[in-house]
Amino acid sequence: METPSSLVSLDVDLPIWERVFTVAPLVVVGTKGPEGGHTFAPKHQAMPIGWANYFGFACTPEHRTYRNVLREGVFTVTYPLARQVVHAALAVLIRHDDGARRGLDTLPTFPAEKIDGVFLSDGYLFLECELEKIVGGFGPFALITGRVAAAYVREDALRIFDQSDHELIGRMPLPVYLAPGRYGSVGESFAFPRPEGMRHG
Ligand SMILES: Cc1cc2nc3c(=O)[nH]c(=O)nc-3n(C[C@H](O)[C@H](O)[C@H](O)COP(=O)(O)O)c2cc1C
Repeated sequence: METPSSLVSLDVDLPIWERVFTVAPLVVVGTKGPEGGHTFAPKHQAMPIGWANYFGFACTPEHRTYRNVLREGVFTVTYPLARQVVHAALAVLIRHDDGARRGLDTLPTFPAEKIDGVFLSDGYLFLECELEKIVGGFGPFALITGRVAAAYVREDALRIFDQSDHELIGRMPLPVYLAPGRYGSVGESFAFPRPEGMRHG
């Protein structure tokens, strides 16, 4: 079979992800800097790993986030509210430990309980993670994985047994990152059709 003529072949010596939009989550990873202050970085190459409460994200040793996780052994994950995505973007500018951008310290945060970490307040899901392993070797990139040691969800974002999932998402739309460089808000959803007996995990 031939490649359909309507397809454009992408140069795989360059990042193909710059040439097309893909849908990704948007989270904010919080880490503690070498001087003791906390810093945040938005991540979209980030996801749960399996159903046993592990979480991973792509990073590179060039990033302070990577070095902070390696040194401290912990990190936080904030899933921002759709209406607060701008805060998530600003979060990368917070530099408590070098003091260079003190003006943005006004973003609301609150401390983690089980680990030495900080969350952005404007989120709906919050994870306290203990470093599990860092898998390197993806070119200059690595996968940082953590075990979820504690998790919190806003009460109004919690799925409740007899409540409609459709209504919940409609009431509290979810932010999506449209890589590269755009974002959206999803408030309309549909039950995923699946054959009788097929489970998602
Ligand atoms: C919306 C958005 C998504 C990003 N996603 C990732 C990502 O998935 N992986 C990554 O390594 N960097 C990602 N970055 C870049 C880093 O968050 C940031 O530049 C990097 O962490 C530098 O900060 P640091 O040196 O303090 O870690 C993203 C940036 C933005 C604005």
